[in-house]
Amino acid sequence: MVDDDGSGRSPRPVTWDPLQYGRFATERARPFYDLVRHVDVPWAASIVDLGCGPGTLTADLAARWPAARVVGVDSSEAMLAAARQLEVPGRLEFVLGDLRAFGPEGPVDVLVSNATLQWVPDHLGLIARLSSFLAPGGVLAFQVPGNFTEPSHVLLRALAESARWRDRVDPDLSWPASHDPADYLVALRSAGLEALAWETTYLQVLAGTDAVLEWMKGTALRPVLDALGDADAADFLREYAAVLRDAYPISTGTTLLPYRRVFAVGQRSAGGARRHAVAALDHAQLAMPVGREDECRSFYAALLGLREEPKPPVLAARGGCWFSGVDVHIHLGVDPDFQPSAKAHVALRVVGIDVLASALCAAGRPVQWDDELSPVRRLHTEDPFGNRVELLEPPH
Ligand SMILES: C[S@@+](CC[C@H](N)C(=O)[O-])C[C@H]1O[C@@H](n2cnc3c(N)ncnc32)[C@H](O)[C@@H]1O
Repeated sequence: MVDDDGSGRSPRPVTWDPLQYGRFATERARPFYDLVRHVDVPWAASIVDLGCGPGTLTADLAARWPAARVVGVDSSEAMLAAARQLEVPGRLEFVLGDLRAFGPEGPVDVLVSNATLQWVPDHLGLIARLSSFLAPGGVLAFQVPGNFTEPSHVLLRALAESARWRDRVDPDLSWPASHDPADYLVALRSAGLEALAWETTYLQVLAGTDAVLEWMKGTALRPVLDALGDADAADFLREYAAVLRDAYPISTGTTLLPYRRVFAVGQRSAGGARRHAVAALDHAQLAMPVGREDECRSFYAALLGLREEPKPPVLAARGGCWFSGVDVHIHLGVDPDFQPSAKAHVALRVVGIDVLASALCAAGRPVQWDDELSPVRRLHTEDPFGNRVELLEPPH
């Protein structure tokens, strides 16, 4: 364990490089997946990712909770610029800000901070404040590195503090620091949460030459490089690379990097409050007239290419047909008083809309193109009963 320095100083802002950070994105993401596996809040509607970086893992949160609004917060303009490419208004948004001053608009169901709190001095003292933002049943989940006694970090600090470099590397430089799982457990419990905390040492298998140096250039080296001019930075990296090569020899083309991470998850009591969320569209039901299932199949299966699903036996006697495709389920239910639906409709996203349009024309179905939502290409057609069906193809 390495303690925060306890000085109360604000660290000099670190300059981040999303491209360099992303070089080992797959390896860096492993602890994130292990962390969120322990977040059991299926109804979450409000999710915040503090220190969201380039936003890729924030987007993963949005995919896991399809009904939630997810907000990523980060103090780095460069990271935020990368994250904003992923923005989906109302669903996945990114805000520039310092997490120490963060205050949500309302109670938060899931508050995640991945690989970030080690950059915040005295972050143990923040845990009560972050916990206070949680809704009943809400979860605060974070993970931090616990590898500051590994050669990668010890050698870096020794070099930066050596007689040759200490005057050129910022003496006020605030080194990242973290605590042991037990310290986080106590902090979460003191904040009134049910908590678990643990640690895992991954063995990252890195390809390429000077792989540990490249890894460190994405994270722990950032403040040191910020403090040095280009020429000094090049010299520093050369010296650091040399000691890393001894500490992490290449074997059969790869380098092994032990990577200890510390995890903590705290959940506020739900206090008897029961929650729900609409997670996804299960199916759309359209009406059809009695006894015309064959025409139904000729349109939805033969023309559109959906697969007919057997109806559950208890429903089969009512007639009608069920169809499905990739993430699409359409049920045609028999209505003795059938009226075609000319306004309400299903809209199906397709690939190869021109091919499908030709097939519809050849089969005598109407095809009415509509370019109001350009560059999305879309058309309206009708099934054999006059129900309106929209087909659209977004730009690739
Ligand atoms: C190692 S990156 C992790 C990014 C992301 N969570 C991930 O796992 O890919 C650390 C991030 O924390 C951000 N950060 C550090 N201190 C912060 C603070 N006080 N407030 C907000 N963001 C901060 C940095 O800008 C950086 O993007």
